[in-house]
Amino acid sequence: MIEQVASPRTQQDSTLDHSKLRISAEEVSAYDLSGRQPVLLGFFISIVWLLIGTVMGDISSFKFDRPDFLSEQAYLTFGRIRPAHLNAMVYGWASTAMFSVSLWLMPRLCRTQLRWAGAAVAGILIWTLGLVIGLVLLLAGYSDGLEWLELDRVWADPLLVVGASLVGASIWKTLSVRNVHHLYVSVWYVAASYPWFAIIFIAGNLPIFQGVESAAVNWFYAHNALGLWLTTVNLGLIYYLLPKIIGRPIYSYWLSLIGFWGLALFYALNGMHHLIGGPLPSWMIATSITASIMMVIPVVAVGINHHMTVVGRFGAMRYSPALTLAVIAAMSYTAVSLQGILTALVSVNRITHFTHWTIAHSHLGLYMFVTLSLFGGMYYILPRVLKKEWPSTRLIRMHILLTGGGMVLYVVVLGIGGVLQGLSLLAPGQGFEASVASTRPWLLLRSVAAVIISAGHLIFAYHVYLMAFTQHGSARRHPPFFEIKPVLVRKKAP
Ligand code: HEM
Ligand code: HEM
Repeated sequence: MIEQVASPRTQQDSTLDHSKLRISAEEVSAYDLSGRQPVLLGFFISIVWLLIGTVMGDISSFKFDRPDFLSEQAYLTFGRIRPAHLNAMVYGWASTAMFSVSLWLMPRLCRTQLRWAGAAVAGILIWTLGLVIGLVLLLAGYSDGLEWLELDRVWADPLLVVGASLVGASIWKTLSVRNVHHLYVSVWYVAASYPWFAIIFIAGNLPIFQGVESAAVNWFYAHNALGLWLTTVNLGLIYYLLPKIIGRPIYSYWLSLIGFWGLALFYALNGMHHLIGGPLPSWMIATSITASIMMVIPVVAVGINHHMTVVGRFGAMRYSPALTLAVIAAMSYTAVSLQGILTALVSVNRITHFTHWTIAHSHLGLYMFVTLSLFGGMYYILPRVLKKEWPSTRLIRMHILLTGGGMVLYVVVLGIGGVLQGLSLLAPGQGFEASVASTRPWLLLRSVAAVIISAGHLIFAYHVYLMAFTQHGSARRHPPFFEIKPVLVRKKAP
């Protein structure tokens, strides 16, 4: 079927008796369509947030080059537009798209129809309402004052909790009535993410902590929002896409187990590495640095597992944008995690803390890993739910080149600029102004990257519109890159 570039096997796990698991295309299609409403709703809303978050990210970036840019209105000042960018991207774009990915994956992997689809629709709408209220209040100057938890504790957060819980209820209900005994790797990651997210979000928002305690709980939340929510759902998606598209089981079940439990065990202890040098008991910092170093175990296990699953079939990326994006995202996960482990070492953190290096790391993770994985998921899932093909190969190519290329530029220039800034801050006798001056060319290049990436987002949104709301998607009978194959074969013939 669509995007299946190798054999049509659907299994992910090498320990299974695959012959018992074959199911018809009609059956798979029925699972896909059972979640059509919430899946499409979540994807469409997430793309609107992507565009809003992009404008906010661009404005934040331009302000580094021209601090007076759009500064007459209070709601456009850096202190408001920057957290608004973070919240629009993390909770609007990434999290809403992750709801759709989860709601599509679970019925497929549990071999049953999506249960409580109505609750999932209500959940996505309530989540979106909470986010709109929170962002309007944030731009109006009402913030809880905690990083990643800026949205209003009274008017926005309860709606977010109810929204995510309703989506989670649909996921867990579907899991409870599954028709397979075995739980696929992707199911562990996706299903576990929902209770984890609810626990950390509620803990992070409890208004009972003061001063240093509050900072510690703040970073317990923010780090686990990255590790036990954004990372886990996307690893679940990548664990699905890689073997599925190339038609080969996951390389090692045992490495999957090490990856999952290692992450669950060590990630939760990592949070205090954001506060190295802060006024916390040294055992807290030391524990978090040790746990950060231990993360090498699950990260390397997942990296080897992904690599060995695809090795020898990287050529298939030519026929599948979803595979291309999933492979880049998987590699970026390894890269950002190794960079993070390095950054958690005191000797490195002394230089990089409070510099643009951290922003490079953030976007390597949240863009090259999370966002590209979600784009890959959308390229794979949307045709199956809409029953249409992507209309244009050219638009797909442009989208991947502009966003991937633009973000590589973003990460590289900020990485270099960040180290130079850190060294300049530590240099005896150099004033603060010298450190600011050392970053200017790199920040200008980041704004160039921002424009390139934004063009990629516009193209993607336009392509989704063409596919979903016009006849262009119905006109095509084959997947976008299908025709490349015969062309290559013909060229080789004498
Ligand atoms: C057009 C693409 C993007 C641009 C131009 C952009 C730009 C920016 C800028 C200028 C900042 C402020 C940096 C600073 O305070 O020094 C920032 C921060 C941030 N952005 Fe983006 N961004 C983009 C995409 C994204 C996406 C897709 C996500 C999440 C999925 C994201 C998540 C974040 C986060 C979490 C921060 C705070 C980072 C930190 O505190 O270390 N951004 N971004
Ligand atoms: C083993 C894995 C990882 C380790 C040890 C790690 C380590 C770190 C450290 C030490 C910092 C703080 C830097 C500073 O403030 O000086 C940090 C910040 C950050 N990391 Fe990671 N990281 C890891 C994986 C990831 C992944 C997978 C993502 C994205 C999905 C990510 C996203 C971020 C973001 C967004 C920040 C900035 C938070 C903020 O200041 O707003 N990290 N990381």
